[in-house]
Amino acid sequence: MTAQHHGRRAPERRTPGGTPLAEYGRFFRTALRSPTTVGAATPTSQVVGRTVAQVVPRSGAPVVVELGPGTGSLSGAIHHRLPGAGRHIGIELDEGLVRHLRTNYPRMETVHADARDLRGVLDRLGVEAADVIVTSIPWSLLPENAQGDILRQCHEALTPAGVFTALTYLPMQHTPTGRRFGTRLHSDFDEVLTHVTWRNLPPILHYTCRRPLVTNER
Ligand SMILES: C[S@@+](CC[C@H](N)C(=O)[O-])C[C@H]1O[C@@H](n2cnc3c(N)ncnc32)[C@H](O)[C@@H]1O
Repeated sequence: MTAQHHGRRAPERRTPGGTPLAEYGRFFRTALRSPTTVGAATPTSQVVGRTVAQVVPRSGAPVVVELGPGTGSLSGAIHHRLPGAGRHIGIELDEGLVRHLRTNYPRMETVHADARDLRGVLDRLGVEAADVIVTSIPWSLLPENAQGDILRQCHEALTPAGVFTALTYLPMQHTPTGRRFGTRLHSDFDEVLTHVTWRNLPPILHYTCRRPLVTNER
């Protein structure tokens, strides 16, 4: 596991790889190679990115963790709002995408790791807690134990006032794993808001969760 961090205010390109088409191509090739890990054929739209990024504080020194940044389609919008003293840590499983992110999003501390090791990654980077966790890993395709493990880690890594966001495809909320995910969020957080972005194919269901609950079942 390694991380790269090249300063706080490096300019970011909104279309990594040169053009949106190149980004789509890279994403699609990765999805063909690892369909269940990527869980999508194309990156999410910029409209989704702008909506997700609204949870990023615009002042102070917030720590924003992004699980599964892929080709970086949400990362540019996050950087657009993140103050200079903030940190953006991306945890990505696919090695090729990690290289791509390090080249195109130098401000993000991109770590090649599994989201299941979130706590270990934060410890190695000297980060006590995250203010925001943005996730677009394929929650609805994960086996129950992996889904539970990653959610537990997110829950435990957040500050008490922290925000957790998850993106899923709207139709997936009707699958057993999608339903299980929604139920779990409601038992883990005091507030769970949902929002649909229709300008994405397929439409995206956003979960925005605040005030992690402390339970005895962990
Ligand atoms: C649906 S794509 C989302 C990519 C991008 N954030 C977007 O919105 O277009 C899911 C991404 O999560 C990554 N991923 C899947 N499981 C992961 C895990 N356990 N840990 C870290 N990354 C993971 C995949 O490699 C892929 O890049």
